[in-house]
Amino acid sequence: MKVSGTPYRTIWLADDAEDGIGAAEIIDQTRLPHQFVTARLETVGEAAAAIRDMRVRGAPLIGATAAYGMALAMRADPSDESLGAAYDLLMAARPTAVNLRWACDDLREVLTNLPAERRIRAAYRRAAEICDEDVEICSSIGDHGMPLIREAWESRGKPDRVNVLTHCNAGWLATVDWGTALAPIYKAHDAGIPVHVWVDETRPRNQGASLTAWELGQHGVPHTVIVDNVGGHLMQHGMVDLCITGTDRTTRTGDVCNKIGTYLKALAADDNGVPFYVGLPGPTIDWTVSDGVAEIPIEERDGAEVTVMTGKTAAGEIMDVALTPDGSSAANFAFDVTPRRLVTGLITERGVSAASEEGLLALYPEEV
Ligand code: MRU
Repeated sequence: MKVSGTPYRTIWLADDAEDGIGAAEIIDQTRLPHQFVTARLETVGEAAAAIRDMRVRGAPLIGATAAYGMALAMRADPSDESLGAAYDLLMAARPTAVNLRWACDDLREVLTNLPAERRIRAAYRRAAEICDEDVEICSSIGDHGMPLIREAWESRGKPDRVNVLTHCNAGWLATVDWGTALAPIYKAHDAGIPVHVWVDETRPRNQGASLTAWELGQHGVPHTVIVDNVGGHLMQHGMVDLCITGTDRTTRTGDVCNKIGTYLKALAADDNGVPFYVGLPGPTIDWTVSDGVAEIPIEERDGAEVTVMTGKTAAGEIMDVALTPDGSSAANFAFDVTPRRLVTGLITERGVSAASEEGLLALYPEEV
């Protein structure tokens, strides 16, 4: 997608890489929306820190960054010890998005049986392939999801806007390009459908207010930022035609783990008869897990993300401000699980399926 008219991905090989081997570069998402800053990743340690500190975030981009992290580790030292240490370091960066494990396992499998001297090139090649595959997958999610927005618009007699509510950021910033939940929205907008997006601010890190609003604005998609508690009210008043969110891990049975607060939106949607869809790439399905609530590890982050907020003053200065009384403790659960009974459909790169084991297996028969 474009930033001020220039096409960008969220991660790429640095221009000064030689023969396909070099540093990776990222958009530092902790600086958005007020500053657009790119950063270099030279080592696997820097890649792991970028994931942990959420300079890159979103399940598919976490996976892509981990792939480049493995490549950077091989560039420094292609030995078995280095491969094992890089795997462990990256796997410890964040616990919930399964794409991290998927990418680390993929790279380890590709590299393990190669002699050390062939590992560097193979790792970079596979990291680049994972990025290209993610772009293709997300574009296909957009193609399969866009008709749902068109149908919602046409079934209401083509009003001057069709309203989609989304939570967190599952746009191109969360992937390599296009996004998952936002890909159908971009495709609908580009097809001339008058789509308007309700953007949940998504406390505590405000990925909606800071990232989703920014990227929709860059693409010219009409949107309105709302606080996290507004969605139910909008749904009661017929102001949401459908919800589309992303996911960090989907069970083989169709339970969806996503940013904290997604579950409450799904409950409100169910109560008001609003369709609730989830956009997801195949690598976000954890075929080893059946019960999302019981089995998916939920990341708990520093309470300071709840008690302190960063913003821009009227004078243009970026500042942290404290929100809570000194001494109040804060809990910071980063994800929750939406049970499959609340999910209308899963929008994948292979089509839209019911949120059920049968539905997913019909699209991914190789996982039977
Ligand atoms: O904590 P984050 O910002 O990494 O959480 C991101 C989300 O919850 C997204 O909805 C999810 O990763 C899907 S991204 C296409």
